[in-house]
Amino acid sequence: MAEVALGGSAEEISLEEVGLRCEVDGEIATITLDRPEKRNAQTFATWSALAQIGDGLPQQVRIVVIRGEGPSFSAGIDLRMFTPEGVPGQGPFATSATFDEAAFAERVARAQRGFLWLRRPDIVSVAAVQGHAVGAGFQLALACDLRVLADDAKLCMKEPALGLVPDLTGTKPLVDLVGLSRAIEICLTARVVGAREAARIGLAELVVAPEELTQAVRDLTDALLATDRDAATATKRLLQDASGRTLEEQGAAEAREQAKRVKALFGQAVPPDRA
Ligand code: CAA
Repeated sequence: MAEVALGGSAEEISLEEVGLRCEVDGEIATITLDRPEKRNAQTFATWSALAQIGDGLPQQVRIVVIRGEGPSFSAGIDLRMFTPEGVPGQGPFATSATFDEAAFAERVARAQRGFLWLRRPDIVSVAAVQGHAVGAGFQLALACDLRVLADDAKLCMKEPALGLVPDLTGTKPLVDLVGLSRAIEICLTARVVGAREAARIGLAELVVAPEELTQAVRDLTDALLATDRDAATATKRLLQDASGRTLEEQGAAEAREQAKRVKALFGQAVPPDRA
């Protein structure tokens, strides 16, 4: 297992300094939120580092697992960001006296880059969640394609209770997974969703005992790696785009992707019965 080499730019972020680890073992990259003493609270630097990992992901990687060290997956945004001093070296979340809307929008967009790459069609991202996944922690789990939960997992979209909105790309996957009414209820009450309920309403693919979480994720990633890489990428692309298309458009997209697969598998000639 190798620590991943990232980027190489002058601005390269030290993962250790921001409380992250990234290990690559063949086709699997495992990103660990590694600040358990602070329940893996996240800062702007965490999100920049996540984006940096995405940018530098070795080409052979097909699976990205995101996990948290310690009792909680992540307690969300580092609450020091809401103090006037902010996190040392990063400043506060915002200051009302000097609030610059354009600069803030740019900062949020930069933070969101840390989450958006997890949907790339050429990888499958899996969140392994134990304990609390609050706010930014819940949104990080939602940014992944799949979620495996320990049965002690507690998901909470805390932002509205703090006078804020979830802005780390979590609202769309939440609505896509549980529907608009349930998403409104979960967010606007900021209540805790337990693991069993999460599985029942579509927020988790699997719920296991905490001591089985690592093995359950390994079994899932083994199964995901059993399929052909290019076919998996093309199929994920089709599935991601399906909800925005009519049935006929989706059928046409399937045919286009299949022509590419057939060309790759059988050479240039498409078999006559498929032409
Ligand atoms: N930021 C900074 N430090 C945090 C933290 C956070 N979000 N969450 C926990 N910690 C720290 C605690 O201050 C404590 O530090 P000390 O030991 O130095 O006192 C340590 O982590 C352990 O915390 P607890 O003793 O509280 O741990 P617990 O296991 O009993 O409880 C918890 C876990 C329920 C997650 C609880 O820590 C908690 O409620 N944390 C705050 C959650 C929160 O409100 N997050 C913000 C959500 S909103 C968001 O993410 C996005 C946004 O606003 C835009």
